[in-house]
Amino acid sequence: MIIRKLSESVQMYAAMDWERRLFDELIPLPEGTTYNSYLIRGTAKTALIDTADPSYTHAWLESLERMGLKSVDYVVANHAEQDHSGSLPALLAKFPACQVISTPKCKEMLIDLLDIPADKFRTVADGDRIELGGKTLKFVHFPWVHWPETMLTFLEEEKILFPCDLFGSHLASGVERAEEDPRWEESERRYYAEIMMPFRKMIGNGLPKVRALAPALIAPSHGPVIGNPGKAIDLYAEWTSDKMKNLAVIAYVSMHESTLLMVRRLESALASRGVQVEVFKMAGGDIGRLAGLLIDAATVVLGTPVVLGGPHPQVAYAAMLANALRPKAKYAAVLSSYGWGGKAAEALLGLMPAFNPEVLGAVIAKGLPREAEYAEIEKLADRIAEKHRGL
Ligand code: FEO
Repeated sequence: MIIRKLSESVQMYAAMDWERRLFDELIPLPEGTTYNSYLIRGTAKTALIDTADPSYTHAWLESLERMGLKSVDYVVANHAEQDHSGSLPALLAKFPACQVISTPKCKEMLIDLLDIPADKFRTVADGDRIELGGKTLKFVHFPWVHWPETMLTFLEEEKILFPCDLFGSHLASGVERAEEDPRWEESERRYYAEIMMPFRKMIGNGLPKVRALAPALIAPSHGPVIGNPGKAIDLYAEWTSDKMKNLAVIAYVSMHESTLLMVRRLESALASRGVQVEVFKMAGGDIGRLAGLLIDAATVVLGTPVVLGGPHPQVAYAAMLANALRPKAKYAAVLSSYGWGGKAAEALLGLMPAFNPEVLGAVIAKGLPREAEYAEIEKLADRIAEKHRGL
């Protein structure tokens, strides 16, 4: 645990998970992560913002006790996911008079997920306030950052925003402010891509509410505290906008190099037409990097061999990931090589109904690509370059 004083009234309790390498059994964490909670003392009442992952319950409670905490009036649950709410049952067992402050939806979810008794809750509407004595917490409903029940909490007198997952980063770092760590912006970008991108539209629509608060500090529940909120808000505004880059991402698997030959031809054909290309090998690849590339690419190309009648499972995974992340890309294409049969392209495109890009072509080779397929790849590059014109 790292305990930091953000002001005379606000302390940060950061459970530092330096070694965690996977989140939700899905998301790679090359820089670990943190679970932050915040203690706010008013002259009359004391409140906690969020708790800690269950793996840190004991250390978190022990830290609070060591810092002299004798009672808690409120614990704000901005989000029901267990990495922030998982220590609620232990907190409520220790402080039975503590009320859980949440949105009505979050109350329902916490009853389902953690079996917290309904009479422990005080639900708040958008814009509601709670007075702690010289300190005022304002609650801002902001669903879908990252689940449907989420809200932000704003400490009005000190202009500190507690947004839980929003603006977070999976970055275990000893710095006091995010800006002091050169890894932060990339961590922030990666976190946005992996966790927030599916909710891009809702987040973009909600950002003006955050700007209107004019926070002086953003204190998220993952990663370091952000001392330059304007920078984080601007980054999110850029990422959530509809503006695409002149970028094509090719994610591929090649078992015996036929698909790789097609990928390489498309790579050079696009580059020669002025299209920026990023090639990503799915086998052993860092999925977080792929997600980051998808933030503002205009075209996604999937390259796959046919395996037992269908696409290689790792390329099917790329298609499912793109479908889940719903990037802003508008265009897609497939490159595929087969030995004796199968329909990989149709199967892949069928895995992306929510993403639903315009398909600019599928080039299929029987075995090694030859002049006919290379000519098709050149035409595909023409179509992609044409669609990218003006980006
Ligand atoms: Fe960090 Fe959605 O929990």
